[in-house]
Amino acid sequence: MFRKIALTAVSVLVLSGGVALAETAEQHIEDVAFAHEGPFGAFDQFQLQRGLQVFTEVCADCHGLKYVPIRTLSDAGGPGIPEDQVRAYAKQYFVIDKETGEEREAKPTDNFPANTGAGAPDLSLMAKSRAGFHGPYGTGINQMFRGMGGPEYIVSLLTGYTGETKEEFGTTLYENHAFPGGWIQMSPPIEDGTVEYADGHDNSVHHIAEDVASFLMWAAEPNMMARKQAGFVSVIFLLILSTLLYLTNKRIWAGIKGKKTA
Ligand code: HEC
Repeated sequence: MFRKIALTAVSVLVLSGGVALAETAEQHIEDVAFAHEGPFGAFDQFQLQRGLQVFTEVCADCHGLKYVPIRTLSDAGGPGIPEDQVRAYAKQYFVIDKETGEEREAKPTDNFPANTGAGAPDLSLMAKSRAGFHGPYGTGINQMFRGMGGPEYIVSLLTGYTGETKEEFGTTLYENHAFPGGWIQMSPPIEDGTVEYADGHDNSVHHIAEDVASFLMWAAEPNMMARKQAGFVSVIFLLILSTLLYLTNKRIWAGIKGKKTA
């Protein structure tokens, strides 16, 4: 009886492991050491600024960022763009005024426009809605150590093109090692030198991808640093509270616990 159960359990494990392996075998996600990772990680402000530039010059052609208010570009912990520059930046976008119903230049109080023209998904929450790491064997244990891997997925997606294309039902598909299924409709958006950084920062395709992935992570979770800080403070608070409770407990029971009953 026991042998039967054990055998079944083992074969189920082996089978499901095999399925999970088969699912992820074609997907290559590389780990990237982002500045915002870890319990004390913070966004690299200059990287966010470069990422904003990449988004503006390249991705915004097809993708929207409709849940992100433009004014947050000057928030602390974000790209930290001065308010007057944000006002100037907003003017390149056009939005429909909610009151007049007419199109006008965007203001910092507006959100980035939605953009679905090219059939591209909105990128506001993309970095949090994709997981880069699934393993081992689909258990997701890796995510506890390396994070969900959303930004890593974006980097791998942007750098994962093989150069192969195929036509299917009149649309061109591009082979991509990171995209589930292996074929994506998005043509390779960046290559070496696609954007020119003002500070002369390395603009090879991998760096550009990391910059924009970091920016999209900020867009999806702008208050990450505040959340981590609050978490740290509450852990300290709980440590102090536990110590006090322990000492109080000892004192309350001191008279009784210390005595030996005859
Ligand atoms: C020419 C238009 C175009 C440009 C420019 C473009 N994209 Fe896309 N993108 C698409 C389309 C179309 C899809 C949907 C692809 C699909 O589902 O097959 C997509 C999908 C995506 C996805 C989602 C993939 C998934 O897992 O579903 C991400 C992430 C993404 N793009 C990031 C970017 C980034 C970052 C940039 C800028 C560097 C960019 N894109 C520039 C058209 C574009």
